[in-house]
Amino acid sequence: MEILWLSEEDVMASLSMEEAIEAVEEAFREHGMGTAQMPPKSYLIYKRYNGDLRTMPAYLEGMDATGVKVVNVHPDNPGSGLPTVMALLILNSPKTGAPIAVMGGTFLTNMRTGAAGAVAAKYLAKKSSKTVGLVGAGAQGRTQLLGLADIFDVETVKVADVSLDRCRALEEESRTFLDASYEISTDIREVCDADILVTTTPSRKPLVKEGWIKEGTHINAIGADAAGKEELDPAILKRAKVVVDDLVQASHSGEVNVPLAEGGITLEDIYATIGEVVAGKVPGRKDDDEVTVFDSTGLAIQDMATASRVYRTAVEKGLGIRLPFL
Ligand SMILES: NC(=O)c1ccc[n+]([C@@H]2O[C@H](COP(=O)([O-])OP(=O)(O)OC[C@H]3O[C@@H](n4cnc5c(N)ncnc54)[C@H](O)[C@@H]3O)[C@@H](O)[C@H]2O)c1
Repeated sequence: MEILWLSEEDVMASLSMEEAIEAVEEAFREHGMGTAQMPPKSYLIYKRYNGDLRTMPAYLEGMDATGVKVVNVHPDNPGSGLPTVMALLILNSPKTGAPIAVMGGTFLTNMRTGAAGAVAAKYLAKKSSKTVGLVGAGAQGRTQLLGLADIFDVETVKVADVSLDRCRALEEESRTFLDASYEISTDIREVCDADILVTTTPSRKPLVKEGWIKEGTHINAIGADAAGKEELDPAILKRAKVVVDDLVQASHSGEVNVPLAEGGITLEDIYATIGEVVAGKVPGRKDDDEVTVFDSTGLAIQDMATASRVYRTAVEKGLGIRLPFL
């Protein structure tokens, strides 16, 4: 018996943003319909290294995709030339349990996260959205924009980061896939005047103030994916229609985790999961004035749906190396 090894390069050659969006939308739909199994992520915390390691298993019955991802988050890594997030993914056969592929999951994680933001905005942002504000110009900032550019006619991109150099680098790379007007700044307030605002920093204190958010804005809150992390003023969550990716996961590691623990909001302030919206169980945006927030923690079902797609394409293209196993 053999296992297919797919390097990051092989995965890159097997996955477009359009395909990632299709896979993630289907994964959310299954989550909403109750045909997905996904125990909560388990975390190991490396306090002395400012990092953590997570395992993320899932099974999608409809797509018949299952496996587990192992992924770290070390915000100091870029200083030593490594990405903040690196991941490895094992895809198994649901029928026999046998591992069928092992693949790099770093590019896939970035793509499925960008795809989640795109799917959420498709259901929650104004259809006419043209201006995107990005808070954080790192890896997630890029793929969030790539995903949104697939769904909306983005004309203006406003980027804020503590580092103007990172803003410039994001602009340069984004120009390769999105011809838009770019405005860069170190002042977060300047990018909040947007139809869709995306936050992708590892912040542990609110960065975006309620008074900076105009009516009708949709916010993709991506950065908070572990206990103690938050990017938004809790008053925004009070005012907005809040949609989470998964209630259990978001409650202890998403944007809502700190305000829930501190009593700034209650579970009643959370409207629905994105799966329930995608599956049509509850409506998404109700009018052009509503403020909406998608709280993304990143779900293992996004990974397995996307990895299953990658595997099929890689096999069709003859990519990867077959390794002896049993
Ligand atoms: N929701 C999900 O599914 C998901 C998936 C992957 C990563 N994440 C999270 O997203 C966050 C970003 O990940 P990344 O890979 O893009 O990291 P990254 O290090 O590549 O980028 C983060 C960027 O945020 C900037 N930044 C940090 N603090 C800031 C502040 N106070 N104001 C403005 N800018 C600031 C940094 O300068 C950097 O450019 C992390 O917290 C990570 O855990 C979430």
